[in-house]
Parts: sequence; structure tokens; C-alpha cells
Amino acid sequence: MSEQTPTPAQPKRVRVHHLREAKERGERITMLTAYDAPTAQIFDEVGTDVLLVGDSLGDNFYGYRSTIPVTVDEMIHHTRAVAGATRRALVVADLPFGSYEASPQVAHATAVRMLKEAGAQAVKFEGGRRVAEHVRLLTSTGIPVMGHLGFTPQSENVLGGKRVQGRGQEAAERLSEDAIALQEAGAFAVVLEMVPAPLAARITEILAIPTIGIGAGPHCDGQVLVWPDMAGLSAWSPRFAKQYGQLRTALLDAARAYNDEVRTGAFPDAEHSFPE
Ligand code: KIV
Repeated sequence: MSEQTPTPAQPKRVRVHHLREAKERGERITMLTAYDAPTAQIFDEVGTDVLLVGDSLGDNFYGYRSTIPVTVDEMIHHTRAVAGATRRALVVADLPFGSYEASPQVAHATAVRMLKEAGAQAVKFEGGRRVAEHVRLLTSTGIPVMGHLGFTPQSENVLGGKRVQGRGQEAAERLSEDAIALQEAGAFAVVLEMVPAPLAARITEILAIPTIGIGAGPHCDGQVLVWPDMAGLSAWSPRFAKQYGQLRTALLDAARAYNDEVRTGAFPDAEHSFPE
């Protein structure tokens, strides 16, 4: 998104219409998850277009076994930290399991909290046609919505685990119709998670709004990764997540060296002590 190149003095905030314009120009959109201020500041500084305060903070921050236990209060807490540290990126907050599905009005009440109390500029939630009315109400009341299709982690108990979605003609048709329904309801972008690359390419072609892929091949308008996977901090990451760093190894080495030096008395040395 060249038009959006940030300068330290006056970065221009990425808005939802910039993402659509990026798609029209054929420019790829970058998105990462962020759960706290220091990482949000770093990802923002290097020009990441969208920071998603994902409910993946359940497994990646709190050590839960899935995203299901994540609460609205936890999302607000982390979104506030990310929004406060971000000058340019569009900050999108996930609506967690149980906080929006029941009705458009319930979704609206939760989304209002994300914007008002936490400082998000948009929200994301999972589902296609079944949440189209939710998307319509939110967008018509000033709350931009990002959709999420394919493997939707909050439905893992119905989907039978973490599996590729949209395989076979019928499933592919359903997924495409869900994507069109989200666009027609006013969503500004759609995440496609664990979808065969040719299907993601087809949906990307038929939609005017951008698709953001995760495990959905190279033809989406943008890509998102969960940041501990991207930076090599996770002990385990999915096959589709490329590691661009080795933070886990770096932290293991640092913590081992610290323990050794404390135990041998090498730390603190004269350089790290006050002489008087
Ligand atoms: O919660 C999350 O991190 C997400 C991404 C996987 C898209 O929804």
C-alpha cells in the first residue's frame, strides 16, 4: 500500500476504504495479530496495514486450549493496549465466542464496547449467511465489519477439529455464497482460513472487497498470520505458517544464559552494579 507509506512524524491512519483501493490497485495487504502494546508498536512501525486483536490470544497469550473461553473483557483489555500503541495500522478486534451470535442486537452491543471502550476501528466475527443481518446492522450504524470464513476456530466443536474447509463442489459453492452474502451485507473484507488455494483465488476474483488469507494460498488480496507463529515464538505452529524469526530459540538462549550467570555469580558484575 504505497500511498500509505508511514513517516515517523505524521503517519496516515489506514482506513477501510484504503484496503479496497489497495485491492483495486493490485497491492497486497499485510495483517498480523497483536495482543499487547510493545508488539503492536513494532508491527505498526514497520508498516503492517492491519493489526488484528484476535481471539487467538486465548491459545497464544493466556494458554487456553482454544479461543472458546476468551471473554469480552479480555478482548477489551488487549485491544486497548494495541490501539493505544498504534499510529498507522487499522486496529480490528475479534468478537469472542458467545458475544454476538444470538442476534444482530447482541453483536451490536459487543461491537460498540470494542470501539468505545477499547479504541478498535473495526470488528471481526465468524460466519457467513447466518451472520449477514448482524453485519448489516453494524455497518449501517457506523461499525466496520471484517468477515471470517473457512475454518472458523470458534466452531471447532461442530467442524470436528482444525480442518481445511470448502473441499468439494458443494462445500465450495456454500463458502462462495457466504462470502458474497458478507459483501452484500456491507463487510469491508473477509478472512479466508484454511481454504484450498484455487477456491480462495475464485472468491478473491468474484468479490470487490479484499480477501485476507491464512492457509488459503497466494492469490488472496492480503495475508494474515498469528504473530507468535510468524516470529517463531510458538512451540508448535500450523504447516501454513512460515516462521520469519526464531524468537523461541532466542528467548531459550537468553533465559539459560541468565540462569547460568546468576548461579555462577557472573551477574551482576561491576558494570551492572553501583560502586557506591
Ligand atoms: O484470532 C485470530 O488470530 C484470527 C486469525 C487467525 C485470522 O482470527
